[in-house]
Amino acid sequence: MFAISPEELKKRIDLKKIDFIFDLRNPDEFEAWRIEGKTAIPALNIPQPDFVGEEERYLERFPKDVQIVAICAHGDSSRYSAELLRGRGFDAVSLDGGMDAWSELYETHRISERPDVYQIFRVARGCISHLLVSGSEAVVIDAVRHVDRLVGLAYSLNARIVHVLDTHLQADHISGGVEIARRTGAEYHISPDDASPATFSYQPLRDAEVISFGRSSIEVHLSPGHTPGSASFLLDKRFLFTGDTIMKTSIGRPDLGGRAEEWSRLLYDTLFHRYEGLPDDLIILPTHAASLREQDEEGIVRTTLGEARRSSDLYQRKEFPQFLQFVKASLPESPERYQEIRKVNLGMIDPDEAKRKELEIGKNLCGMAKAA
Ligand SMILES: [Fe+2]
Repeated sequence: MFAISPEELKKRIDLKKIDFIFDLRNPDEFEAWRIEGKTAIPALNIPQPDFVGEEERYLERFPKDVQIVAICAHGDSSRYSAELLRGRGFDAVSLDGGMDAWSELYETHRISERPDVYQIFRVARGCISHLLVSGSEAVVIDAVRHVDRLVGLAYSLNARIVHVLDTHLQADHISGGVEIARRTGAEYHISPDDASPATFSYQPLRDAEVISFGRSSIEVHLSPGHTPGSASFLLDKRFLFTGDTIMKTSIGRPDLGGRAEEWSRLLYDTLFHRYEGLPDDLIILPTHAASLREQDEEGIVRTTLGEARRSSDLYQRKEFPQFLQFVKASLPESPERYQEIRKVNLGMIDPDEAKRKELEIGKNLCGMAKAA
């Protein structure tokens, strides 16, 4: 009762019932990545070594009338400090497993029936995979690293995974695509423009190709820009899986390969020309969310192509010079580890589990900051 699980914490964030967070990590860790709500949650950051033994000095900074959720990296320091606070009369609980456990929390939401579309959402990082099921066959789009989630879900639905598709070579998280293909015998598809130095075998995605499964079909729309090999997948003319090309409140940054101007030209061409014939009512299901605010009331991250066209600042820059200027002004920092993650996803390096975990710390920075 003096601990809160990541699942319970998320449930209470959704209900806007978390009132105060006490984060015991170092200030740089806190700055880089913290638990955020759907509305702002007041948070206090005091590193554990500063707090323990000196707690008297800090007590007036804690609220008396609401519950305090203490958080650290693994859940040990926070348990100890929550106990100290309770000893002083505060209502304090500790997040079980700390940010480590929070980082591996997933939610699964069903979006539609026939075809069945499931959205698998990695809460802390905003990474999204989709599982599509038609008849007894399934397709995975943009698999996360924890592949048991996806393989297990398909198994529980009596569906066999026959295709695994990556919209692009991911830079912010480690793809589970090759691993699922290896385990299930499914075909793994990615564009050769992203995968060319890869060490694994794959089916090269081609523009306008149709990939069939069950009673459904997926039409491939190459949509370069975020990466040169980015692709979008149109399922049964209803759902458009855009990867990071269009997200709910952002457009995918075109600078992660170090050639921002060249890739911006590709992105411009995709948004204004390649997507031109696609109707406004297509439901966009992206691969990333910038924050929990992007989950709707059903917990689903989605928008429509029409909404993106209307609301995205970038879509209002209809001439390329203005478009490029806006892109350049909207680029967030580019984490160094992204280059390493790209190498993992190409099969060029094979780090151990601890290193994989470390590479995926923090939330994704795939979108442009001001392109909402
Ligand atoms: Fe990306």
